[in-house]
Amino acid sequence: MDRSRITALITGASSGIGRAIALRLAERGAEIALVARRGELLEQAAAEVRERGGTPLPIICDVTIRTEMEMAVEETIARFGRLDVLINNAGRGHFALIEDTPEEQIENIFRVNVFSLWYATAPAIRQMRRQGSGHVINISSLAGKIGYPANGAYVAAKHAVVGFTRALRAELAGSGIAATVVIPSGVLTEWAEVTEGGAMMEIFGYEAERGGEMAREMGVEPLPGLPLLQADDVAIAIDGIIGLGVPELYTHPGSREIVEMYERDQPGTERRLEPFWLANREGYLKLRNTGG
Ligand SMILES: NC(=O)c1ccc[n+]([C@@H]2O[C@H](COP(=O)([O-])OP(=O)(O)OC[C@H]3O[C@@H](n4cnc5c(N)ncnc54)[C@H](OP(=O)(O)O)[C@@H]3O)[C@@H](O)[C@H]2O)c1
Repeated sequence: MDRSRITALITGASSGIGRAIALRLAERGAEIALVARRGELLEQAAAEVRERGGTPLPIICDVTIRTEMEMAVEETIARFGRLDVLINNAGRGHFALIEDTPEEQIENIFRVNVFSLWYATAPAIRQMRRQGSGHVINISSLAGKIGYPANGAYVAAKHAVVGFTRALRAELAGSGIAATVVIPSGVLTEWAEVTEGGAMMEIFGYEAERGGEMAREMGVEPLPGLPLLQADDVAIAIDGIIGLGVPELYTHPGSREIVEMYERDQPGTERRLEPFWLANREGYLKLRNTGG
């Protein structure tokens, strides 16, 4: 792939990480289809892409509707004549214990984070196979590698993003098309404010403070903290691996080591996480009992 002349389609490009990736790619003159539902924000992102030297194509599209997503891929190819990079970034979390999660929430979380992968990737790789090159980049999460409470559908969905990418890599063997799953930890975006069923953000402060207190009471050494990154930090890391055959990208320093520790010794690692999980549950129940 010629990294100096890229045509990309980014889902969830109206805010956060998706928007930041679009702006990064624009700096090197990329052609970029920006996909999301909020048209006004897409227009603003498109204007910024243009200012930075990119060629934007804003497309209003709900990634959970297969026909809309397929049309977005077709429109991109019709406009630019090719598609080098697909970034499946659109995603949303939720805020509910497993025993409280309504059916609709389970479905919505899987539709946006998982089903959409098929809707965008299938038409994209048909084009990439014709070209003999391309790169599909799927945004998972640390929650795609490790459990986290009150967000079970999201945790399961993001684990599915890892599995989808592994299957995709197997199917793309010998094709010249790369597939990568990205594992970010905390990023300062709208994500935690717009979780379905309530803002997950409300629990973070409580979990950190009360969890720290409980860890001291339980004599447990917490895991090393991970930095909160800006969306642009994640965009820079993703930009750096475009066109390369990297299977997994950890965007936060220290996060790969935590996953390796969890895989090597899950019970031991869970013991160090437990005070924070208990604090999360305590905070969740307080919020729910007060109608928050
Ligand atoms: N922020 C974090 O701490 C964090 C950590 C790990 C992983 N992630 C993952 O990173 C990705 C980007 O999240 P973010 O942090 O940038 O959050 P964000 O600012 O909330 O952005 C989410 C994007 O997804 C789009 N989207 C949601 N539902 C959609 C739908 N049905 N159709 C089309 N677009 C849809 C939103 O656009 P519209 O609302 O305009 O449609 C928005 O552009 C997500 O997959 C998220 O799960 C985030």
